Amino acid sequence: MLSQKSSCILPSSFSKRADKRCRRVVTRSNMSVSDVPDRDKRDTMNTLLLAGVALPSSMIAGSYLDFLYPPRPSQDREVQYAKDLFGNNIKHSVWIQNHSTPLERELTQGLNGDPTYLITQNDGLHLQGYGINSICTHLGCVVPWISSQNKFICPCHGSQYNAEGNVVRGPAPLPLALAHVYTDDNDTVFFRPWKEEDFRTHDSPWWN
Ligand code: FES
Repeated sequence: MLSQKSSCILPSSFSKRADKRCRRVVTRSNMSVSDVPDRDKRDTMNTLLLAGVALPSSMIAGSYLDFLYPPRPSQDREVQYAKDLFGNNIKHSVWIQNHSTPLERELTQGLNGDPTYLITQNDGLHLQGYGINSICTHLGCVVPWISSQNKFICPCHGSQYNAEGNVVRGPAPLPLALAHVYTDDNDTVFFRPWKEEDFRTHDSPWWN
C-alpha cells in the first residue's frame, strides 16, 4: 500500500473517500503549532482548568497525608504532648493497658495546659482521634465525666454535655472544645489544635 505523510499518493483502486481522508490527515500533519485556531484562548482555558482541578486535589491529598503521616511534635510548635497527673508524657500502649474499657474517658493535660479527656475507642485498643477539653463553656468549671449517665455534668450550674461533649442542657452556650489526638513514632500521645469544622455541630470551631 502506498501512503505518504507529505502527500497523498494512493492507487487508483482506492475510493475518493479514502483519498479525501488521506488529504485531511496530510493537511493536519503539515500544520504548525501556531496554525492551531484560538491557540491563546485554548491555553488560557487549559491553565484555568488545571488550576481548578489542582487546588481541590491537593487539598484532598493533603488531608490523606495528614491522616497517614501525622505531624511530629518536634516539627510543629502548635502541638503539645499529652501529660498524665504527674506531668509525664503519656505512652499510648501503657495508657491503653490501663484504660481498656471501651469509650472510657480520662483527664490528661492538653493544649495550653487545659484538662483534656482522652477517649478509648470501642475496641478497647486505640485512642479516639479527638480529645475533649473539660473546661465548661458557661463559666469555666472543670466538667467531670459521669459514666453512669453517659454524660459530662458540670457541678457548678448543672450544664450537661453528651458523650461527645455537645450541650444537651444549659446554661452552657457552646459544646466543649475539641483537640486532635495523635501518637508519634515513639508511642507518645500528643494533641494538636482542632481547626476544622466541629463534627458535632457542623459549625466553625468557636475556640479558635
Ligand atoms: S460553669 Fe458549668 S454550668 Fe456554669
